[in-house]
Amino acid sequence: MIGKLNHVAIAVPDITEASKTYRNVFGAKVSEQIDQPEHGVKIVFIKLPNTQIELISPLNKNSPISKFLKKNPNGGIHHLCYEVENIDLAIEKLSEKDFGLLEPGKPKLGAHGKPVIFLHPSKCNGTLIELQQE
Ligand code: CO
Repeated sequence: MIGKLNHVAIAVPDITEASKTYRNVFGAKVSEQIDQPEHGVKIVFIKLPNTQIELISPLNKNSPISKFLKKNPNGGIHHLCYEVENIDLAIEKLSEKDFGLLEPGKPKLGAHGKPVIFLHPSKCNGTLIELQQE
C-alpha cells in the first residue's frame, strides 16, 4: 500500500533559526516560509535528493504543534509521510484491519495540496504516520 517516503516532518520552536541551520550549515535547498492558517502551522520545505524535510512551527497558540513542542521544547520528529496511490482504497484497507484514523472521515488537503490522512501513533509503533495520495 505505501510507496515512497514523501517527507519527514520536524517540529521546531523557531523556524527561522531551523531554516538557517539547513541552509547555511547543511547547505540544503530551503524554501520560503509558507503560512497555513487552516492547519495552524508555518512550514518550510527542504528539498533533498531522495525526499523532503518539512520544518513545522506553530502559527498560533491553538496550533496542533504547540502541544508537541511543550513536550519537546527543542523540537523533534513529528511525523513521517508515505505516499499511496489511492487514499480512499488505503482508508478502506485500514478500516478492515481496525486501524483508526486520527481524525476519522474524508481525507483533508495537506501541506502539499494533496489529500492526506493521519494514522494514530498508538497503532504505528509510537510514530504519527501521514499518508498522502500522489
Ligand atoms: Co506532513
